[in-house]
Amino acid sequence: MEQMVETYRIALGADHAGFEYKEAILKMLEEDHEVMDFGTFTSSSVDYPDFVHPVSDAIEDERAELAVLFCGTANGVAITANKHFEVRAAIAWTAELAALSRQHNDANVLCIPCRFIDLATAKQIVRRFLASRFEGGRHERRVRKITDGC
Ligand code: RB5
Repeated sequence: MEQMVETYRIALGADHAGFEYKEAILKMLEEDHEVMDFGTFTSSSVDYPDFVHPVSDAIEDERAELAVLFCGTANGVAITANKHFEVRAAIAWTAELAALSRQHNDANVLCIPCRFIDLATAKQIVRRFLASRFEGGRHERRVRKITDGC
């Protein structure tokens, strides 16, 4: 299910491999959303967990409703973010995967593999993620079981 884009509070975080895409997507999102930028703020080498934990904290304490994380493969940021109980972080390299992560998994964090997709694709993925909604129904039970089993 996709609808008109509504206004969200969105947290962003990146390491050096995701810095440039974060900057470009920050500019895109600022037009319609309240955006919180947790860094990194230069292309110097950094450790992705230092930026992912603050973003995940913002999701957990509800300062942000959604987040987008950027690193080379998206694996590091996704693995780190998913350590947080309230985070459901999904890696997407196509817009359809991003939509399905919202529709079926109620993903609240989108992870972009910046070294494997071009910026235009990354923008399209982010736009589709924001335009998609959780479908509930049978997916509600499955999503609940993700943390019920912990
Ligand atoms: C940085 O070189 C790279 O390891 C990082 O961006 C990410 O791909 C880790 O999962």
